Amino acid sequence: MAKAQIITFANIKGGVGKTTAVTNIAYLLGVSLNKRVLVIDSDDQGNATKALGVRDLFDRQRETLWSGLSRKVSYQEVIVESPYKNIWVIPSTKELKSAQNEFGRSARGLKLFKHLLKGVEKDFDYVLIDTKPQISILLQAALAASDWYLIPSFPEPDSYDGFLDLVAECEEIHEEENPKLHLLGVMISSVKKIPAHEQYLKFIGKHLKASHVNLLKPYIRISNAVATGSLHACPAVSISSGRTVKDDYLKLTKAIVKLVAAKKAPLRPNLGKLGVLRERHEDESNWQQDGSGDEAVDLL
Ligand SMILES: Nc1ncnc2c1ncn2[C@@H]1O[C@H](COP(=O)(O)OP(=O)(O)OP(=O)(O)O)[C@@H](O)[C@H]1O
Ligand SMILES: [Mg+2]
Repeated sequence: MAKAQIITFANIKGGVGKTTAVTNIAYLLGVSLNKRVLVIDSDDQGNATKALGVRDLFDRQRETLWSGLSRKVSYQEVIVESPYKNIWVIPSTKELKSAQNEFGRSARGLKLFKHLLKGVEKDFDYVLIDTKPQISILLQAALAASDWYLIPSFPEPDSYDGFLDLVAECEEIHEEENPKLHLLGVMISSVKKIPAHEQYLKFIGKHLKASHVNLLKPYIRISNAVATGSLHACPAVSISSGRTVKDDYLKLTKAIVKLVAAKKAPLRPNLGKLGVLRERHEDESNWQQDGSGDEAVDLL
């Protein structure tokens, strides 16, 4: 039996497209590529739960992430079938806010997701975990159980605040808790075809490459369908006006499938070089004027 690939989507900066990425990639994996997908909504805002159409479909006493973690049961007892083919969800509820107090200092804390997901490959090909934008026991436990972490970002320096801290945290979890955890890469969405974004992407491409961090392609273009999807509580790629965003997300999803299937593990990110990246961001003029890259920019 093939191993399920567990991918945590994380960025300590909020509002950078994490949930949009998780829900649209889940839809394409399940509906277009016929993979069995489990989405875990580990953010108490519950945006992924809503976007995948399960908000009103579950028993709030039993079928929730909180219930699974606090009752120490298997994922099988808390998964909810979504309206979409091949996609199941472990929904979020507000009780998740108590996780830090409840599990933050317990020895069991870091093992929460490992325990929940034991044997998950029997039922799923991919497990995608949506997280809250902060370092917390839920994020740490998700990383401790994952094969990969993926960093969604927008094409702006602000989206990189906390980037170094996140990668440093993940590297620590790799060293101490989970040697199979690797960085899948940084994905960028909400991209416009304007010089500021082109320059920024060129700058970031060069520095991520020097830091051994994969910049995933293609970038996801800005699209009104994302807002339309939110309004109707469905993934943008599932609606007819979402053709551009579907095109981008489908190519990205196929690239992710290929990367996780590769036998060779990626290099560890170079934290020192990433630190240089953050310092340079503090001086915006640096990246605005930096046009001399050796990396060809392949915008969109
Ligand atoms: N490709 C895109 N085109 C247009 N808008 C987008 C795109 N991707 C994301 N957005 C918008 O950006 C905003 C933030 O997206 P999202 O909720 O996915 O971010 P997040 O990182 O999950 O946020 P949080 O940290 O609050 O959980 C949303 O309003 C979403 O509609
Ligand atoms: Mg979110």
